[in-house]
Amino acid sequence: MNRRQLLRSVATIAAFGPAVWPALSLSASMRMQGMDMKGMKMGSGMMGGGERITELPVGQPLPELVKLINTSKQLGVFEAVLEAGPTQVEFAKGIKTEVLAYNGTVPGQMIEVMEGDKFKVTFRNKIVGQDSTIHWHGLEVPPDQDGNPAQPVASGQERVYEFEIPQGSAGSYWYHPHPHENTAEQVYRGLAGVFLVRPKSDPLPQELGDTVLIISSISLNSDGSIADNTMTDIMNGREGDHVLVNGAKQPVLTLAPGTNRRFRLYNATNGRFLKLAFEGHTMTLVGTDGGLIAAPVAGLKELLLAPAERAEVVVNFQKTLGAVTLVSLTHERGWMGPGKPSESTLAVMSINLAGPAMASMPLPTKLRDIVDLGGPTATKQLEFSETMGMGNGMMNMGFLIDGKSFDMNRVDQRSKLGDVELWEIKNTSGMDHPFHIHGGQFQIVERELGGTKTPPAFIGWKDTVNIANKEIVRVKMRQAFAGLRMYHCHILEHEDAGMMGTLQVL
Ligand code: C2O
Ligand code: CU
Ligand code: CU
Repeated sequence: MNRRQLLRSVATIAAFGPAVWPALSLSASMRMQGMDMKGMKMGSGMMGGGERITELPVGQPLPELVKLINTSKQLGVFEAVLEAGPTQVEFAKGIKTEVLAYNGTVPGQMIEVMEGDKFKVTFRNKIVGQDSTIHWHGLEVPPDQDGNPAQPVASGQERVYEFEIPQGSAGSYWYHPHPHENTAEQVYRGLAGVFLVRPKSDPLPQELGDTVLIISSISLNSDGSIADNTMTDIMNGREGDHVLVNGAKQPVLTLAPGTNRRFRLYNATNGRFLKLAFEGHTMTLVGTDGGLIAAPVAGLKELLLAPAERAEVVVNFQKTLGAVTLVSLTHERGWMGPGKPSESTLAVMSINLAGPAMASMPLPTKLRDIVDLGGPTATKQLEFSETMGMGNGMMNMGFLIDGKSFDMNRVDQRSKLGDVELWEIKNTSGMDHPFHIHGGQFQIVERELGGTKTPPAFIGWKDTVNIANKEIVRVKMRQAFAGLRMYHCHILEHEDAGMMGTLQVL
């Protein structure tokens, strides 16, 4: 039994409900004796985890992200080293937590480049005993440079990633590891960072500021170590016990009343859906995964960010003093098995309004030209599904695309370089799954739920889109490079369990 089958059979146990767990877990643990458990602990903690740290310090000032230093002296060239390896961080007071970090910080240092830059990063894998890669999520990068699972960097080894940042690609991207079947764990142990591409000139006024909020989560055992994934995490995607912003729990950002502030919101959690709202305020949406949208969309009360999605918003804070809480509201994402989180509004961070009031500032009515990709010349259909059944004398749980589990030596889809294609992604499972494809950005054409088709309210670029349970989402895209691409569910536990396919671009 390989690791994936193992995870699946264990996942099945939890899915059947409390009545059958004891017997099933017993036989499962017997079956698993002597196997590579890799991060899984059996016994009492198997379903829901053992003793955890339930409180972390809150209320510190919002940490600013440290920038990755460009070591190149040449104009238009960005060069740096990113080393992934173990380090210690203090989340709980006086308790050290061993994490995996890029260059020693969690979240990783923020990369900031300009459109048109030549980008060159040397990656050193100092993670003990594990392959890794760096994937440049959302960027238009050749397949052999995008750190997909077909290009592992062994522990103790290094490689160079080198590519050019395309013109017109300014936006909020990120980077994270993507090793075969081990992405979820390396990310929840701390490996992820922001990758900003700046335009030559920004249509949004500088006075709006530019505050990056990278939202992640962490679960800690009572000894301070990072908790392994439980069955609940493996099935639903890890939500994490504590939600962090720039690495801190419920931090505080102090602004003058009346401030208009631009925020870049990142969902960098493995499997938590964030439905974000600034209490008592609306947001103006100005950007999505791949940069600014054509024109601002005002009046948003809430914004759903599925795992891996990003958005840029401007918030005009009221002119009175006090605190505004950024919350995450409940989103019905479909839940499998026990351990469904309680329905309540979660405080993510707060904005403290203090000092003399600022005059409000108008936004430009137009942000940039986004040309519709035009009529597609080919159509593809994908189906996200879940299965449960008997096989090889045991029960299997599967997260599948087109009825198949990931095999990097199999080509699932083929595309012609430069063709505009319509991808129709259908979710027949009982759970939301965010669809993501490597190597660039797509345009959403429409969403269809229960026979009702809804076109998007604005034009923008996306690399990740949530497909709600029973929904069909149609997107248009064009491949810019030949080679092997991956597309997958961005609940990283599902991706590791095989909810991923390959696209051969010729
Ligand atoms: Cu964010 Cu295939 O990854
Ligand atoms: Cu990606
Ligand atoms: Cu999924």
